[in-house]
Amino acid sequence: MYSVENQKKFIFDGGIQMITEKSIAFIGAGNMAEAIISGIINTNKIPKAQIYVTNRRSKQRLDRLKVNYQIQAMPSDELPFERIDLLLLVVKPKDIEGVLKDITSKIQKSTVVVSVVAGVSTEFIENTLNKSVSVVRVMPNTSCILLESATAISSGKYVTKADLLLVEELFQCLGRVFAIQEVQMDLVTGIAGSGPAYFYYLMEQMEKTCIEEGLPLKQAREISAQTVLGAARMILEYEESPLTLREKMTSPNGTTEAGLKEFIKRGGGKAISYAIRSAQRKSAELTKDLRVQKQ
Ligand SMILES: NC(=O)c1ccc[n+]([C@@H]2O[C@H](COP(=O)([O-])OP(=O)(O)OC[C@H]3O[C@@H](n4cnc5c(N)ncnc54)[C@H](OP(=O)(O)O)[C@@H]3O)[C@@H](O)[C@H]2O)c1
Repeated sequence: MYSVENQKKFIFDGGIQMITEKSIAFIGAGNMAEAIISGIINTNKIPKAQIYVTNRRSKQRLDRLKVNYQIQAMPSDELPFERIDLLLLVVKPKDIEGVLKDITSKIQKSTVVVSVVAGVSTEFIENTLNKSVSVVRVMPNTSCILLESATAISSGKYVTKADLLLVEELFQCLGRVFAIQEVQMDLVTGIAGSGPAYFYYLMEQMEKTCIEEGLPLKQAREISAQTVLGAARMILEYEESPLTLREKMTSPNGTTEAGLKEFIKRGGGKAISYAIRSAQRKSAELTKDLRVQKQ
């Protein structure tokens, strides 16, 4: 079982691997793959020649990634499977089974499969590949681009400590990594994976209100974004709970109290809770659908 103590012991034992020496391939070249690729390029840790990307049919998209990031983009049948250390699966859940069936005869035992696909269990991937391959499931978000992702990570049954540390090292370059039990992955998908969209929606509403009240768009946008950023940093850097911070800044009869009262009266807090649970349910349904399809 992975733990911080095990990780320390492993590093102490001299088993640490260097992500800089590894080759990484992406199956799927959409939004999430690009966010991860862009983040990796921003870190300058992995030579561009060691990054491969492929997709199903959009050559134009591959050409764009090749030009923008100077990485190796190619049709999937040209992927050099024998050279790949980390194989990232970044396709929609509906496409995962087809991808796994395509790669099962080509994938090497030494390759670590890293699934970014929402709602797809490591067990499903292991069973569909039908061989003892290391499968790590991750749930990052698009803030990988800015190296600010919150990435949850959990491992399948063939994963070694070395495999897990390697995947962790990759995602630590792209933000913060949280090792979780796989049963919690649906929940964390509703926070880390989908969460940025809730805040974008909240900020859309802030912007809209400010514009209605005559504030220029640029100022409305920057003030609301800086406010959200500052609030998040207060929690992370002062290690205080959101409740304590909220209470500290809410004076009786003040403006914050007036705003919060309305927020709570209109179901603001409940709405967030419902949003997380709904995304969690959707993620769990995807797992169930794949299981049913396979039977
Ligand atoms: N977007 C997010 O914020 C986010 C966050 C966390 C996790 N995720 C997960 O990341 C995954 C991808 O999401 P996305 O938003 O990046 O989707 P997307 O933009 O639709 O990209 C999907 C990619 O998969 C490729 N693809 C489909 N079938 C393929 C096949 N058989 N072989 C090779 N490539 C194939 C598509 O290629 P073509 O275009 O050529 O068909 C496309 O490049 C999803 O499972 C999602 O749950 C997304």
